[in-house]
Amino acid sequence: MTVGDGAVRVCAPAKINVILRVLDRRPDGYHNLWSVMQTVALEDELRLRVRAGQAGVMLQCDDPTLPTDHRNLVSRAATLALERAGLNVGLEIELMKRIPHGAGLGGGSSDAAATIQGMNRLLGLGWTVARMAELGQQVGSDVPFFFFAPSALVTGRGEIVKPLRLKGARWVVLVNPGFPIDTRWAYERLSATRSGARSLSSALRAVETWEAVTWEELLPLVENDFEAAVFPEHGVLHTIKTRLLSQGAEAALLSGSGSTVFGVFRDETAARQAHAGLDRFERCRAYVVRTCTEALSCEDPSASAPLPVG
Ligand code: C5P
Repeated sequence: MTVGDGAVRVCAPAKINVILRVLDRRPDGYHNLWSVMQTVALEDELRLRVRAGQAGVMLQCDDPTLPTDHRNLVSRAATLALERAGLNVGLEIELMKRIPHGAGLGGGSSDAAATIQGMNRLLGLGWTVARMAELGQQVGSDVPFFFFAPSALVTGRGEIVKPLRLKGARWVVLVNPGFPIDTRWAYERLSATRSGARSLSSALRAVETWEAVTWEELLPLVENDFEAAVFPEHGVLHTIKTRLLSQGAEAALLSGSGSTVFGVFRDETAARQAHAGLDRFERCRAYVVRTCTEALSCEDPSASAPLPVG
């Protein structure tokens, strides 16, 4: 195994759940999920390099509200990956945050996946996608998906990921209300507000057998089980959803367990108009982004430097 001494840059995209069904509670306390996930072009950025002298992980982040110790999923993923690789090297990681946290956009999970992918490249680990996803699962339920991005069907606790090509692209307006929602709280609310077993419709069962699907086929099926649990507590999220639909969104939905609500638009102009129409939601941060069509990838920053002109 060779340990390189250069640096790698990895972009970590946000995700939306185009469909999110929460099924039964499992004996391990987690819930079985059924979700179609898609990455969107709102990205954090990570730079990783080997640090001479001192072993272990050193994380720096441009968002002072985020911890940089073991509570950060990047530190956890990096420490676990070094352990698993049996390497006693120093690793320096810079994290540039763009994705809001506690937002249902999988920012921390995407950062963790990007960390593992970046280390695989930087340290020449030669790990397969399956191996990286298995490691990622130990960091968080949403992490494995990002190795199969840009779109996939995710089941189990989040660890069973089947690539599902979502043909075509859409513009997405992400509306974050300016407050986070704790995932664990959302699951507890969900359990408290419903009774009986959940089953999947035959339309969703059919999706399981497909390798590719169009947005037109998927849009009539969009739903998120967390809306019934979260909207009664946070009425503004329902108001944002209604607003996006009235502005011409093909669909509007809570992402993950919230707090972000997104609207799907066929064309950019309509998406930008809807974005402009959100002015009256004062504390909100809204973004107009494209759905991703590429997988997660790493770059050697020196290789991507612009060429001198003239
Ligand atoms: O795996 P992760 O740390 O992201 O999960 C956060 C919390 O969300 C878990 O502690 C659990 O309460 C809940 N969860 C769940 N079922 C899942 C994923 C998460 O109940 N499939």
